[in-house]
Amino acid sequence: MARVLVVGSGLAGLIAAVRATDTGHRVTLVTKAALSDSNTRYAQGGIAAALFPDDSVDAHILDTLRAGAGLCDPAAVQVLCEEGPARVRDLIRFGVDFDRDESGITRGLEAAHSRSRVLHAGGDATGAAIETALVHTVRERANRAHALGGDQITIHEHTMLVDLIVDDGRVSGALLLGPDGAQLAVSADAVILATGGAGALYKHTTNPAIATGDGVAAAWRAGAAIADVEFYQFHPTALAVPGTPLVSEAVRGEGAVLLSSQGERFMPAIHPDAELAPRDIVARSIAAQMKKQDGAPVLLDATGLGRELLEGRFPTITAACRAAGLDWALEPIPVAPAAHYWMGGVATDGWGRTSLAGLFAVGEVARTGAHGANRLASNSLLEAAVFADRAVRALGEPEQRPPLFDDGTLPAGDPVDSDVDDAFAAFDAGLGDAHTLVDRAALQDLLWEAAGVHRAGTGLTRAAVTLAGWQAVDRRQAGVAELETGNLLDLGRLIVAAALAREESRGAHHRADFPDSRPELARPRFTRRLMRPTHSFVTVPPQPSEAIAC
Ligand code: SIN
Repeated sequence: MARVLVVGSGLAGLIAAVRATDTGHRVTLVTKAALSDSNTRYAQGGIAAALFPDDSVDAHILDTLRAGAGLCDPAAVQVLCEEGPARVRDLIRFGVDFDRDESGITRGLEAAHSRSRVLHAGGDATGAAIETALVHTVRERANRAHALGGDQITIHEHTMLVDLIVDDGRVSGALLLGPDGAQLAVSADAVILATGGAGALYKHTTNPAIATGDGVAAAWRAGAAIADVEFYQFHPTALAVPGTPLVSEAVRGEGAVLLSSQGERFMPAIHPDAELAPRDIVARSIAAQMKKQDGAPVLLDATGLGRELLEGRFPTITAACRAAGLDWALEPIPVAPAAHYWMGGVATDGWGRTSLAGLFAVGEVARTGAHGANRLASNSLLEAAVFADRAVRALGEPEQRPPLFDDGTLPAGDPVDSDVDDAFAAFDAGLGDAHTLVDRAALQDLLWEAAGVHRAGTGLTRAAVTLAGWQAVDRRQAGVAELETGNLLDLGRLIVAAALAREESRGAHHRADFPDSRPELARPRFTRRLMRPTHSFVTVPPQPSEAIAC
């Protein structure tokens, strides 16, 4: 039995907590906001799995590999697609009520899927339905344990990860910031990061404001290998109003089309699959079209679907349109790309194990290799469910180095990516001169302009110089917002360094100065922080305390 600290309460963290409790581990679940606040809650389209008679695991694998633009880890994709159906059945057992009609569970089509295989719930409220069912399950486990006088699972809301604690190369716990504003150290046999993505890096995002990449940043500072951070997916269609709510790809799957501001379709001339081309292509095409029309958003015309379908199948989007004063049954709505999902993150093997002993990563915080350079729609909830389950299974195994990291740090045969590392070292060298306190809005503007849908060496270099001049508040004195902004600064530097180093275009990473893919670069890039003497990393927290039993 291990003491397991789970950080984050989206699908990945909740599954990890439930599975770990059920297999006899003692779990402490901490989450930055309320238990039900997570990126999962905002997922609309659904969860893809080969569950229907006209589908197959092989077809799902092929679609995933194709979308991934040559950068997927085929073993991870195979695990994802093979184990996906069983994990979806688990969700049904946990109480997720996927939408049905008289023939059984209904399914939708999304871009780059060769067939309809996307399950949804509450129409377009799939993430909310999953989050609600899992929060209920976790609370039930915690209440039952409490009633029996046990502590198999304890939940701490409004508790943020500050940093990981590393002893002798092993993660032995975490430094947390509690709701009272005090930092405290918690020790654990295993830490499972499930902190999600970092949409808050960008000025426009479909993510909630809590998506600040806390886990990737902490893992990076602790020296864990990270990978593919240059690959950030931009969803083609966020409603172009403040808050940029998501307009699911499933709307295009049902037949909605994209129009220029002049009312003309532009996608058929760009890709044979038109509006259902891979997500990166649609997002770039929209951005290019917007440039032609002086930055005005393009239009999504769903009027042909009829009011009944729109309101019944897409109640969340209908409500978002209404809140913005739009009636999408009567008129096309303005849409534009927004940061949506991070393919890169903490490098893991097929069991959620990272390059640091004692540290696991599951869900969007992890880079499993299942998504490559561009995630296939509705594979993210699936990945979270599959690899969270596997990480818990790995907890029960005798500890061994993941074969992926057989030198103890990085994947076999793939040394520290020197380009990325050199770029990051340049930031570090400039840090002595950093004198301006980072401003989050300025950081988001900078990342959007320089490392957004379109990138180029000149803009990335300028961004690198600007980022080197910014500094964050000392983490030992910081509150939640300051810690988050510090994380965003670290991650912004990493993304810019990695985007500069990848001199090609592939999947979600598109460089105007290197517009083509280069076959010799069709490989993931792993890197980790070089622990130079100048690096200060908190291994001994300032005020150790065990206020949270783990
Ligand atoms: C969507 O509904 O379009 C988003 C689904 C996803 O990100 O996979």
